Amino acid sequence: MTFRFFLVSIILNLPLATPVIFIDLSHTFDPSIPFFPTQVRFNFTQRIVQLMNEKNKFFYATNAFTTSEHMGTHIDAPYHFSPTGWKVDEIPLSHLVFVHARIVDVSKQCSQDRNYLITIDDVKNSNLSVPESDAETGEKFSFVLIFYTGWTKYWPDQTMYAGDKSDLHFPGLSEQLATYLVNTYGDRFVGAGIDTLSTDYGQSKTYVVHQILARHNKYGLENLALTDNLVNSVQTKFFPLDVYPMKIGNGTGAPCRIVARLNNPKRISK
Ligand SMILES: *[C@@H]1O[C@H](CO)[C@@H](O)[C@H](O)[C@H]1NC(C)=O
Ligand SMILES: *[C@@H]1O[C@H](CO)[C@@H](O)[C@H](O)[C@H]1NC(C)=O
Ligand SMILES: *[C@@H]1O[C@H](CO)[C@@H](O)[C@H](O)[C@H]1NC(C)=O
Repeated sequence: MTFRFFLVSIILNLPLATPVIFIDLSHTFDPSIPFFPTQVRFNFTQRIVQLMNEKNKFFYATNAFTTSEHMGTHIDAPYHFSPTGWKVDEIPLSHLVFVHARIVDVSKQCSQDRNYLITIDDVKNSNLSVPESDAETGEKFSFVLIFYTGWTKYWPDQTMYAGDKSDLHFPGLSEQLATYLVNTYGDRFVGAGIDTLSTDYGQSKTYVVHQILARHNKYGLENLALTDNLVNSVQTKFFPLDVYPMKIGNGTGAPCRIVARLNNPKRISK
């Protein structure tokens, strides 16, 4: 807020806007980030040219990359596991931008079992209460449920984060929980997020959670960058979330920038 706006606010007795801070829930892409063994890894080629032509001297840099859609912090479009599900460019912006997000902290359970399957009781014990409609807009209350396993702290160590390439270990949602979420919250539930490689746990062979979410046109957010500070700050409150996937035609998923907007900056520090 500028000083001038501050003065105008006082003179006109306008409410002072609450400062909003943005928390980046995305990891930075680089070729060494953890990967799912079946996916094409992020490869990055850097090209920097100093044009020394006497007349037009300027700096020029350009890069190229190749990657699976499912690398780094990314979205799984429903089409990833359902032929009739939305492709990434078809997911409505109302499901991505300024949606409500809520974190369920299962880091304690996961610290005791790296193959932990998150249960219905974990969600019930978090006192999740989802309104029918948005109090401000009157529209349907669209929300993303994010699971904090604590795995973010292992990033970018492939072995700690994912386990052995042929024997993956990390927590995920249980099949029962996925079914419970789609049945209990219907249209209001738009997607599930997690700070591991996958919404299905590492030992999964059938990706049943992906199948259930996709069949109900829900998306997944994987490899979220979460912190204890964020989790402690928002506790069991909803907060606004923005998810910006690259708009890939026919995409089964895409790298994303994912940002939380918080208005109580005093309690957050990096
Ligand atoms: C990455 O891209 C470069 C340039 O195209 C290529 O030479 C290299 O083999 C690639 N590396 C991998 C691991 O694919
Ligand atoms: C849920 O509510 C109960 C009863 O008010 C409380 O004891 C418990 O700590 C709450 N759980 C969370 C995760 O906030
Ligand atoms: C999607 O795939 C279909 C079938 O292969 C193709 O006809 C269409 O042009 C593709 N769309 C985009 C945006 O790539």
